[in-house]
Amino acid sequence: MIPRFKPYFTFDEIKAIMGEKENIIYNFEKKFANIVNAKYAVSFPSGRSGLYSLLKSLNISNKEIIIPAYTCLVVPAAIIASGNKLRFVDISLQDYNMELPAVPHILSKETAAIIPTHMYGTPMDVKTLREIVDKNVYIIEDAAQAVLTKNVGKYSDAVFYSFNIEKQVFTFGGGMVTTNNEEIYEKLKTFKNHNFKSSSTSIELKKTFLLLNTPFIFSDSFFRFILALWESHGLLTWKKRGWNLNNKNLPVEEIYLSNDFIENYTRVQAAVGLSQLKKIKNNIKHRVEISKFYNEQLKDDVKKIITLPVLKNGSTFSHYTIRVKDRKDFEMFMKKHGVQINKVFDYSIPHIPVFSRYTTGKEKFSSAYIAGKNIVNLPTYPQLWYNKNKLQHIVKCVKEYYYRT
Ligand SMILES: Cc1ncc(COP(=O)(O)O)c(C=O)c1O
Repeated sequence: MIPRFKPYFTFDEIKAIMGEKENIIYNFEKKFANIVNAKYAVSFPSGRSGLYSLLKSLNISNKEIIIPAYTCLVVPAAIIASGNKLRFVDISLQDYNMELPAVPHILSKETAAIIPTHMYGTPMDVKTLREIVDKNVYIIEDAAQAVLTKNVGKYSDAVFYSFNIEKQVFTFGGGMVTTNNEEIYEKLKTFKNHNFKSSSTSIELKKTFLLLNTPFIFSDSFFRFILALWESHGLLTWKKRGWNLNNKNLPVEEIYLSNDFIENYTRVQAAVGLSQLKKIKNNIKHRVEISKFYNEQLKDDVKKIITLPVLKNGSTFSHYTIRVKDRKDFEMFMKKHGVQINKVFDYSIPHIPVFSRYTTGKEKFSSAYIAGKNIVNLPTYPQLWYNKNKLQHIVKCVKEYYYRT
């Protein structure tokens, strides 16, 4: 079975887990800032914690925060938890990023920040966004899937990253906020120092265990069991924790952001992060090569029923996305042929009942709806580049599906 993703892990990470950890978090923050060309970086236990902390430290409260209608559901959750309100902008079906021409219609006196996402590693035009949006509105980039995507951080106030599963830097959870603004950096650090607990021994041990076992967990054969387990629970997990996404009237206090949400990033994760940064360029190079390979191989045969992505200059391809009419059918077909198919976000945020209270009920967000319904991701993890048979097999299966349909 070809898994849908796999961390780029080698013996180097295992050595890092066992190695010296003096000043390791600071070193990771410094190195990360350096690599993404930012002046400052502050680590967090997740991207969502970074976003939440940014909004809190900038004293943004009871204001409107604009996000794309198609993104990760923890983004709106973190905004609500920070005491703010949501506004949505539909996306473009070309690159799944925020639709720029729609932005002016949604700006209001209440807008305090806008959060453009570089979806699947594809660069969002933040330069133009900066020209559209008033200077006193913060632009906070969501680069959870976009380490080293072109121009990230250049035109905004701050950027948040994620080191969770399926990201280009993987440390079994974790996040980073970067900024070039010293004042934002100082405020963020102060907020973190006052509000975050130091990471507990149990969290350090848990992360050490998970990271040590990463090669095993993501081995081709074992991972399918994990995934089956995961899929059988799915959104139910949220329900169990009291956060029922289908409850339109759920009190905002019950929005759930994870147990370690305000615990510091751990040292063992920082050690692995440093090791991951050593090969980030190679990692991204292979993702780009794989994505180009897919596009080249699929462009003539399947494009009539399967929509291929537009490959943009500067994309880092955390994922390679295609749109299919009947996702379930496609997934089943690929699974039967030994390929796990991924759907990172199978929803549109304004269509989730718990978030729909922030819409007027009149907007359609039709592109976000289509993306949430039809997108699937083909594997792009870098190790695949060294196994052309597997890549050929994936392409062959997609073509077979096309000719069968
Ligand atoms: C686009 C996007 N934004 C935000 C996040 C949240 O990151 P984290 O899980 O580290 O909180 C993710 C994670 O999946 C994401 O893909």
